[in-house]
Amino acid sequence: MPSEKFKLAVLVSGCGSNLQAIIDSIEENNLAAEISLILSNVPDAYALQRGKKHGLESVFLDPKDFPNRDDYEKRMIEILQTKSIDLVCLAGFMRILGKKFIEGFSGKIINIHPSLLPAFPGLNVQKKALEHGVKFSGCTVHFVNEEVDGGAIILQAAVPILDADDVQSLSDRILEQEHIIYPEAIRLIVEDNLEFSGRRVARKTRGN
Ligand code: GAR
Repeated sequence: MPSEKFKLAVLVSGCGSNLQAIIDSIEENNLAAEISLILSNVPDAYALQRGKKHGLESVFLDPKDFPNRDDYEKRMIEILQTKSIDLVCLAGFMRILGKKFIEGFSGKIINIHPSLLPAFPGLNVQKKALEHGVKFSGCTVHFVNEEVDGGAIILQAAVPILDADDVQSLSDRILEQEHIIYPEAIRLIVEDNLEFSGRRVARKTRGN
């Protein structure tokens, strides 16, 4: 009997192009995992349609149905636990997660962020990078801890900023890199190929 697949939950709020990159990686046999659940906090997130198109369970959980964030996240935790999720991947999930959720999945939540952290945490970061005048931006896959966009960094890709760039063109080129490094970071975790030293995360050095 083949052993159980590594189970991913992908949390989304929008277009879902990173979700698509993860789906494609799995379907192309570059990632030995399955997406057991796609969960959105936005009803019409296109990501939900992408999931359904690939036959994946794709759920909208309405924050308005819960009196507060704690109760919403409690329900999220319950749903994820029933699916025995191994890794929670935030892919354009535009809600800050609370302490209980983060503790509940300690070390098992990762996020993709469209800047070279620790530069430009938070929102609208492509615009901030342009306004600041940096010559390189990029994207970061990191573990999620209680500090927003502050967890240990798994992978980054740099993207040069061109004189002619606007927010759209820069965001598009950063997204291209996101679609490469996010599935790759997930693969490193699935294959247990990371080692940790304080905040530093590195590929395991494997002997021959
Ligand atoms: C991506 O650029 C992702 O890095 C960003 O939202 C976009 C989602 O695109 N995430 C954040 O800004 C999180 N703070 P997608 O829905 O097409 O994957």
